[in-house]
Amino acid sequence: MTHSTPFAARRARLAAQLGPGGVAVIPTAPEQRRNRDSDYPYRHDSYFYYLTGFTEPGAWLVLDATGRSTLFCRPKDAEREVWTGVRLGPQAAPDALGVDAAYSAEELAQRLPPMLAGAQALWLPFGVHTGLLERAEGWLAQVRAKARDGASAPTQMRDVCALLDEMRLVKDESELTLMRRAGAISAEGHMRAMRRCAAMLRAGEQPCEHHLEAELLHAFRDAGAQGVAYPSIVAAGANACVLHYPAGSAPCRAGEMVLIDAGCELDGYAGDISRTFPANGRFTGAQRALYEVVLAAQQAAISACRAGARFDAPHEACLRTLSQGLLDLGLLSRNRCPDVQAVLEQRAYQPFYMHRTSHWLGMDVHDCGSTTEPGEGKAARVLRPGMVLTIEPGLYVRPADGVPEKYWNFGIRIEDDAIVTEAGCELITRDVPVRVEEIEALMRG
Ligand code: GLY
Ligand code: MN
Ligand code: MN
Repeated sequence: MTHSTPFAARRARLAAQLGPGGVAVIPTAPEQRRNRDSDYPYRHDSYFYYLTGFTEPGAWLVLDATGRSTLFCRPKDAEREVWTGVRLGPQAAPDALGVDAAYSAEELAQRLPPMLAGAQALWLPFGVHTGLLERAEGWLAQVRAKARDGASAPTQMRDVCALLDEMRLVKDESELTLMRRAGAISAEGHMRAMRRCAAMLRAGEQPCEHHLEAELLHAFRDAGAQGVAYPSIVAAGANACVLHYPAGSAPCRAGEMVLIDAGCELDGYAGDISRTFPANGRFTGAQRALYEVVLAAQQAAISACRAGARFDAPHEACLRTLSQGLLDLGLLSRNRCPDVQAVLEQRAYQPFYMHRTSHWLGMDVHDCGSTTEPGEGKAARVLRPGMVLTIEPGLYVRPADGVPEKYWNFGIRIEDDAIVTEAGCELITRDVPVRVEEIEALMRG
């Protein structure tokens, strides 16, 4: 078995955790029909990719506790390949992917039951692939039907995601290299969008959300990223108060702010950046005041992010700073909440800040891995070097009694991607500025 690729190294690490007689069976994602002859753009399954580096649909990995890996993949088919592109095929797969053996996926139903005969545990991704458990029942039934020949079927079915989630939580060097690049490309997209917005207004043209989305896409694809890691949010004015607002066609007007939350996917890894900026490149006093609160909250969260701290430490630091800012700017009344402690106890910040400050980031934009520490009940996860998380405070102000009108309809989020290090964290998305003066300078062109 070769260890020369990160994929082979991960397979070996997983195999070592399957226990004696364990066999893992991991399919990739199915293709999704959009309508008639059109499919949605294909995206492989992240668990499968993590172990193989293989992006074709219709493939399965079988890995046993000895480390032996078998790939099932689409067979070569000259006629189909004219329509849908070249397939690797089972013959070339062992060399290309470092697996020990490869067969046509058409042989899966016939070859898999004998591979499970004598195994003790069958490891599958639970809750990921519709119908997988039913299929597994079928394989096991076939093994049992051969019991007279002395074959024993696995007596346990276990969730391989439990192992893979823990592995994926701490990124290896090859992953961190890709994520730094995904962060830099995503940042370039944001800068393009900011510049375009201000430049159009200067030229007397009306920038709209779709113009800015086009800049993001241009930057991502131009740099070789495969596409977006998630649908881009480009929200002008009050649209920014809708957390998952998809880029539409609303105008980005001088005097209003624009919130962009977008990131590319590069070789299977996500960037995830949010920036909020004035459409014309100049913050008004009220915009700046609220923006500075969010920025200070982000800085507090960043300062709380380091190996050994808990996953919720950045969130708590962020809440304290946001709460102080809401009191200072009069969005929360001191009659109701005399101090930060009261704001926190009453969760009075919630009408303005209703999401968490962080999520894991990796192949999936909301990456896998529990945020609690294994074996410690509900206690938050202890951060370790190589974990990657977003730090993304925001404030969203809907018109309401008692809320100063000058802040109405402001939606501000500032989001960066952070690699946990021993001493703190490495921000991999800071090519795009966050400070007021730097944003204004960038947008002056
Ligand atoms: N882009 C989704 C998020 O920031 O969580
Ligand atoms: Mn995020
Ligand atoms: Mn985001």
